[in-house]
Amino acid sequence: MSPAFVLDLFQAPRPVNWAEVFGRTAPLELERVFGRGDFLAHRASEQPEINLIGLEVSSLSVLKAWKRLRREGISNVRIAKAEAASTLFYFFAERSISRSWVLFPEPWPKARHQDRRLLGSDFFRLLAARTTDGGELFVAADWPDYRDWMIYEAGLSGAFALESGGWPVPATKYHEKWRAEGRSIYSLVFRKTEHPDVSGLFPAEVHMSQIKLEVFRELSDVVSSFVPAAEDWPGGVLRIKKAYLSWEGAEALFLCLVSEEGFIQKFHVSAKRVGNTVLVKPQDHAHLVITPGIKRCVESVARIVAPTPEGL
Ligand SMILES: C[S@@+](CC[C@H](N)C(=O)[O-])C[C@H]1O[C@@H](n2cnc3c(N)ncnc32)[C@H](O)[C@@H]1O
Repeated sequence: MSPAFVLDLFQAPRPVNWAEVFGRTAPLELERVFGRGDFLAHRASEQPEINLIGLEVSSLSVLKAWKRLRREGISNVRIAKAEAASTLFYFFAERSISRSWVLFPEPWPKARHQDRRLLGSDFFRLLAARTTDGGELFVAADWPDYRDWMIYEAGLSGAFALESGGWPVPATKYHEKWRAEGRSIYSLVFRKTEHPDVSGLFPAEVHMSQIKLEVFRELSDVVSSFVPAAEDWPGGVLRIKKAYLSWEGAEALFLCLVSEEGFIQKFHVSAKRVGNTVLVKPQDHAHLVITPGIKRCVESVARIVAPTPEGL
């Protein structure tokens, strides 16, 4: 296998064929919130026969983990800068992960921030849908309230049951930090008990073609007269926040944000001149899942570029 490297998940067909990515078929394991990669390195070298994937939202952590995995010559890990829940939903096939790990997720202790916690009942259901029947989830936490909350949420999901006993949590940055502060460490093992249907948890993917417009005015005029735009609909909002012109003037870029049931995507829509026509579509390599909200946003940008009804 080639050395550990950072994946650009959006360039792969969905769901990802992990055997192809790793160059071999092997039990698939997943660590969410891997921080600087201590556990990834530990697990991968202890179990060279598994394929291990790490997901983490912090770019700096991804860089640190990547450097470490390369330095140690570890070849059975792939990592991605990616949010855990949406990535599980769109990029992993049903029953594909045999075991997952979450070590010291952010506790969000304030009551008003609780819905930012990763391990809520929806997440347990989503993870169960992507876990092999009878597969396991290993968790470590430093905060008793979070431990109790996870146990409650797992029960609420009906998809994972708590097994008796914990597991020996290896040293990680946060494990060492909490121990040095004299805190207790709680480790839990859950086992999948039910295979739930989670198809409605995130917006469905839809097909979208680029929009071709007849536009005679200059894109520089479109950009200079731009005013931020917003649309709201039940369960969703979109914002078109800024417009820029490329240096040679042949492309306008619109900075957009779409939120559908709390699933947020930020991206640029491109309007590119080709003769008398302008092609409107998400910017190439935008890391996007095409959802109904994204389609709606591209259509709104098209109306900004060509405001006449005939334009669309
Ligand atoms: C307290 S640190 C724990 C890091 C590591 N597991 C350890 O034990 O040292 C929590 C990490 O979770 C990451 N994180 C928070 N929410 C996330 C999410 N939804 N998806 C992926 N990573 C997330 C943060 O960037 C941070 O690195």
